[in-house]
Amino acid sequence: MEPYLARTQRYTEMPYRRSGRSGLKLPAISLGLWHNFGGIDRFEIAREVVRTAFDRGITHFDLANNYGPPAGSAEETFGALIKADLRPYRDELIISTKAGYTMWPGPYGDWGSRKYLVASLDQSLHRLGLDYVDIFYHHRPDPETPLEETMAALAHVVAAGKALYVGLSNYPADTLRRAAGILRELGTPCVIHQPRYNMLDRRIEHGLLQALQDEGVGCIAFSPLAQGILTDRYLGGDIPADSRAARPAGFLRPEHLTPEKIDMVRQLNALAIERGQTLAQMALSWVLRHPEMSSVLIGASRPAQVLDAVSAVKAESFTALELQAIDQLVAGMDAA
Ligand SMILES: NC(=O)c1ccc[n+]([C@@H]2O[C@H](COP(=O)([O-])OP(=O)(O)OC[C@H]3O[C@@H](n4cnc5c(N)ncnc54)[C@H](OP(=O)(O)O)[C@@H]3O)[C@@H](O)[C@H]2O)c1
Repeated sequence: MEPYLARTQRYTEMPYRRSGRSGLKLPAISLGLWHNFGGIDRFEIAREVVRTAFDRGITHFDLANNYGPPAGSAEETFGALIKADLRPYRDELIISTKAGYTMWPGPYGDWGSRKYLVASLDQSLHRLGLDYVDIFYHHRPDPETPLEETMAALAHVVAAGKALYVGLSNYPADTLRRAAGILRELGTPCVIHQPRYNMLDRRIEHGLLQALQDEGVGCIAFSPLAQGILTDRYLGGDIPADSRAARPAGFLRPEHLTPEKIDMVRQLNALAIERGQTLAQMALSWVLRHPEMSSVLIGASRPAQVLDAVSAVKAESFTALELQAIDQLVAGMDAA
């Protein structure tokens, strides 16, 4: 592949939104490396996807210790991409990683102890070939470890220079409020929360979005396309061999794509066409309609999907009738 020189025009189209009440701005569209960047995936495609994203103003790349498969390999892939292409642009990038799910055997490789979080971030930095990440997240709440210990571990990694900001993911509203209070007292405010949010999973509308607003914490929604359900991937009614649902491992299974759901997706697609958007673009615009949404975190298996997504930022705002039509179509449906 040609040596990489980032596109000169990369900052002309992407809007950047402030994350809560912090100084950090994020691109409206960010790229996550949960799938398609593991040791089992093709490096040259991963490389093209990341180049395409950065060339279009996507400055934020999201990882976690366990992304792959195998776990850890997405960080290794991204480390290789930094080395090959992105090193000259390090100060233009927001790179995040997380710890909170099972990573290694024994009592210190999971959940939210200080022991696990600090060791895991050291391992992540090693795989990424970096001195620091921009955001370090606790990936899920730990019902056993005192919240004070987990938050103190996050504050510690910032004080140690291993992360610039901290975030939380998958926290319910009440725990988020308590955690944000502790972090504020420790002088390391929580800059961002990462929940799942899309047309088929609207749980954050019932308390979490309000909590984030009250606490001044930004929000980055993951799986805004419901892992591909809210795109043209499955419109034909079959499971394309190169799609996420066809992969042997993963959370999106062929049985999630019921005939009722495909029918709903077709009707959403018709609505998107009326708006002059692809279905994926409409799904992203729908998440970004909340002013407190700092960014949407997409996944992509090919560069064309990134290009499709970035065009969503040009969309017209939704009319009340369009929002109502979407509410009616998705009522009673769930995400995978
Ligand atoms: N904090 C957490 O607990 C958590 C959990 C899950 C995810 N995340 C983060 O969120 C990121 C995104 O999650 P996700 O991958 O589930 O997001 P998603 O954007 O809902 O789904 C991505 C998938 O949708 C399909 N797709 C994307 N753009 C498309 C387009 N324009 N047209 C047609 N199909 C399109 C692709 O499927 P195909 O592969 O079939 O082409 C792609 O792999 C992850 O990478 C990760 O960083 C965080």
